[in-house]
Amino acid sequence: MNTKFFNLAFASAALLTLSHTLMAGDIAQGKTKAAACAGCHGNNGIGLSEEFPNLAGQKQAYIIKQLSAFKNGSRQDPTMNAMAASLSTQDIADLAAWFSSLAKVNAQAAPNTPIVKTSPVSRREFPETVYISMKKSAAIETFPQQNSWQGGPNMLYTAITPDNKLLLSTSPSTNSLYVFNTSNGKQVAIIKTGKAPKGVKVTPDGQFAYVSNQGSGDLTVIKLATLKVIDTITVKKGPHNVRFTNDGSLAYVTLQGGDGIAVIDTRTRKMIRVIAVPGITGPHNLDLSADEKTAFVRDFVHHVAVVDLASGRVKKVITVGNGHGGIDVLPNGKFAATAAIGDDYITVINTRTLEARNIKVGKGPHGIRASKDSQWIYVTLTGENAIAVINTNTMTLETKIASGQFPFWIAVNGNP
Ligand code: HEC
Repeated sequence: MNTKFFNLAFASAALLTLSHTLMAGDIAQGKTKAAACAGCHGNNGIGLSEEFPNLAGQKQAYIIKQLSAFKNGSRQDPTMNAMAASLSTQDIADLAAWFSSLAKVNAQAAPNTPIVKTSPVSRREFPETVYISMKKSAAIETFPQQNSWQGGPNMLYTAITPDNKLLLSTSPSTNSLYVFNTSNGKQVAIIKTGKAPKGVKVTPDGQFAYVSNQGSGDLTVIKLATLKVIDTITVKKGPHNVRFTNDGSLAYVTLQGGDGIAVIDTRTRKMIRVIAVPGITGPHNLDLSADEKTAFVRDFVHHVAVVDLASGRVKKVITVGNGHGGIDVLPNGKFAATAAIGDDYITVINTRTLEARNIKVGKGPHGIRASKDSQWIYVTLTGENAIAVINTNTMTLETKIASGQFPFWIAVNGNP
């Protein structure tokens, strides 16, 4: 064989491999595609909190290698495995081109807007007790009393029983549900759930709690009179949170690992159908209109889908702030308010006209719930360790109150 030819063939094969691993990444395309990453890695590739690595200025080949490893499962992280699953080789190349092009800047936290109020907190903004989980302080805090109850690791979602006696909170890292006696803040039980429990809700009659286990794809049903697990409902696809109808006959469950909402018949405790919600990525939290005909579904990225439940038709997809967050239809039914952990504002949607407006609140808003009289909207600011309170008469920020670390979710009696 002609050595010259051999060398040439070898060289071009090597070149091919090289151009394959560093496949033509398009920075502009990457920038567009990176919108899905901003909720955790920031708009500029700087992670929004300690748990999210910086990607700005990272080596291109390294990003490609890591994303490919998340995609094929050889590197394990539940969030990133899910994120990378849908990325094509071209997407990965574009994303790597974009993030590596960004300047490596020191993550400089924006100066905090002053937190106005510490102690004591006025009753005016808290007509009834509000219970808030503190993920990083492993505690529940009550407002306006500002009591702190010791809970378990990563206290996440919370719910209050209609009689106000028990407060429930999930601990995904220990696969359990903590139950507190609200009269003294003592733990009365720690109940084993499925894997990675997220949302928890109580049936309107106060008899049962449903816990959505995102890791095991099922719901744990707990009888509250005995605090015992009485059933497990399989739904698959990463159930994240639940909303019961007011008569308690149905439970709607967001399937964050899929693309829809599961409908559970609470009498038979079986899934009866899945309503597909096209146009959004990873259904995360949901709430219902006052007449319960429409669902407002918040996804994991930056959308709210407005779904007509009878026909399953998506009436509108509204772009909201980056990252995941809660959503609450105010008890008076007039507005749906949603938070966005990767941004510094909430979005308030008029439930009749579907017009949306943004209200600046501070860093990392996630949990969001209105008071029972719809006068106040409470928002947890995960990036500021504070609770923002919006006055719904003016739709402006009324006050901010210091809290424990990483305030996450809010339970208000009368507004499940
Ligand atoms: C919900 C949060 C979240 C979103 C959204 C997200 N990531 Fe991540 N990402 C993480 C976490 C958490 C880690 C760290 C995983 C670990 O500990 O292994 C990570 C790690 C990574 C890494 C590895 C970094 C390193 O230093 O090894 C890359 C690369 C990455 N993400 C890229 C992306 C891209 C690209 C997107 C969007 C398509 C994205 N991520 C969306 C949370 C997220």
